[in-house]
Amino acid sequence: MIDRSTIDRILDAANIVDVISEYVTLRKAGTSFKGLCPFHDDRTPSFSVSPAKGVYKCFSCGEAGNVVNFIMKHDQLSWAEALRVLAKKYNIEIQERELTTEERQLENEREAMFLVNEWAAKHFHDILKNNVDGQAIGLQYFRSRGFRDDIIEKFQLGFCLSGRQDFSNAALAAGYKREFLLKTGLCYERENGDLLDRFNGRVIFPWTNVSGKVIAFGGRLLDSRTKGVAQKYVNSPGSEIYQKDHALYGIFQAKKAIGKFDLVYMVEGYTDVVSMHQCGIENVVANSGTALSVHQIKILHRFTQNIVLLYDGDEAGQHAALRGTDMLLAEGMNVKVLLLPDGKDPDELARSFTAEEFRKYIEDNQTDFIVFKINLLLRGVTDPVKRSEAVNSIVQSIAVIKDPILRDTYLRECAHRTGVKEETLITQMNRFIYNDKEQQRREQERAAQSAEAITATPEPLRPATPMQQASKVETMLVQAIVRDGEKIIFRDIENEETGEKISLNVAQYIAYDLGLDDLSFANPLSVQILAEAVEHSGEEGFKAEEYFTHHTDALISTLAVKLSVDQFHLSESMQVKERETDLKDRIVHLILDYRMDYVDHRLKELQAALSSENDLTKMMEKMGEIKQMQDMRNILARKLGNDIVV
Ligand code: CTP
Ligand code: MN
Repeated sequence: MIDRSTIDRILDAANIVDVISEYVTLRKAGTSFKGLCPFHDDRTPSFSVSPAKGVYKCFSCGEAGNVVNFIMKHDQLSWAEALRVLAKKYNIEIQERELTTEERQLENEREAMFLVNEWAAKHFHDILKNNVDGQAIGLQYFRSRGFRDDIIEKFQLGFCLSGRQDFSNAALAAGYKREFLLKTGLCYERENGDLLDRFNGRVIFPWTNVSGKVIAFGGRLLDSRTKGVAQKYVNSPGSEIYQKDHALYGIFQAKKAIGKFDLVYMVEGYTDVVSMHQCGIENVVANSGTALSVHQIKILHRFTQNIVLLYDGDEAGQHAALRGTDMLLAEGMNVKVLLLPDGKDPDELARSFTAEEFRKYIEDNQTDFIVFKINLLLRGVTDPVKRSEAVNSIVQSIAVIKDPILRDTYLRECAHRTGVKEETLITQMNRFIYNDKEQQRREQERAAQSAEAITATPEPLRPATPMQQASKVETMLVQAIVRDGEKIIFRDIENEETGEKISLNVAQYIAYDLGLDDLSFANPLSVQILAEAVEHSGEEGFKAEEYFTHHTDALISTLAVKLSVDQFHLSESMQVKERETDLKDRIVHLILDYRMDYVDHRLKELQAALSSENDLTKMMEKMGEIKQMQDMRNILARKLGNDIVV
């Protein structure tokens, strides 16, 4: 427990601008400071910090609070944990009752895991510097790679002794529970229950999160042992405190410099980050050989919009760069790419360059992502189909950029470099943008509908919104079924197969006619009403309206009640007695309308699909179906026209 006077001292010392600047790049604006909000996907600075009031507020997402709230929210910490972060920053000793290791670990699981990790990082670092084997093997290894002591210190590099249980024994002896040694992945369990060390015999690179807490470790085998099956690097498994695709190696050590230079370099490996720091370049992070994720991009975006990918020039590096770019562009980052020559990694370059030389080298050799992508995709490709695929892919990348001016600039560049007319590219890009928007709109609609379906409480006279909204025509057909389902509209027509004379009531006719084209209602309630009407409408004395308005399913009965008194209904005067032929004409007309709706809808779908189709055979198929639908449309239009005339 932290005592009250300590809390007060911490709060007095904490400067909100100072603290938040560690997470967000803030710029002075009048008496307050502004930046990109870290709590939502912010593209314009809507996040404001008032040093006078000691509060922050985002004018876009509404997130607000004081300095402690900020850390709690940002790093997902408890009040006490957030205070400890501040106390550490301002060198305030926390006056708290000394908890036993046992009690500490019980406080909560995440905190216990952070504590174990923090201890382990110190332990590994201590072994590296002070243990005989640690010095002889681990420290010697780092020295052989030319890592300076201050850099080893800065990244808290360490060594895990070679015995299979050296670490776990030390951790248990220090009072840490096996539960958390397992949960953090520092150890794993043998079948007989023995604890084994995950990182034994490896040099250690601890990972910290944005606020400097140790979340995971990477362990590298010494060179002499990298041959053969053993994995060069072993990393902590994902855990409660370490989500691989949320973490960036080096972010804690880099964040100030990223803000200062308004630029971040993205590299592949631990040693690249460490070596670049050693050479004096600090605005660098690694994602450790995996694909860049949206989460990682969002973290970086808080500090800067500008990113340079420094990747290996090999196949894997090229692919990594390609995979990342669209996502980076969509998040509004300015992306440049530098593929390093023949197997060189930034680690190597950093050792032969001064910081200025390295920066200049990057400046001179980086390419804009669009040039990079064009070069990569079109290099040596002469086949026209393949070329057009490549151009499409480039245009697709450009289409995700949200800034229209930037988009235009890139399109012009693309036209210039590929020799494809700019107008053609613009048309194609607009198609991608349209399809994207359409897809987003549909997804939102679907999400909204299912949300409504889940939350809707059926109330009288208003049907709960079902998953699939019924169109107006569909509703009118269902209304006809509910009101007049049992009424005969076709008498003594001959069944083509059996020669039998049959009559059809409203429900039967609708089911029969829709069935001819395998059509069915969109709304599940409509489907159920039609099915039940068909099932029962032949029964002696069946009255659809009575049946449905007294249905045991509340959704059906409320809908039936609504439809039986609804606006679609004929006015009172006309309602008196609708002749059989009028009823028949009305139903036939409604079904034509329904078909027309369907055809229109399908045509739209096909046209949208056609515009994004690249495969020639599939294009032909789609065009065939479009022709069919258009013919059908003409027939329907004629019939409907005649109908109206009659
Ligand atoms: N990596 C990993 N597991 C592996 C291999 C690689 O996690 N088995 C990750 C590490 O984060 C590594 C990065 O991918 O730093 C890049 O891999 P690589 O280029 O092979 O290693 P370097 O960082 O260059 O390491 P070193 O210079 O020590 O060989
Ligand atoms: Mn390397």
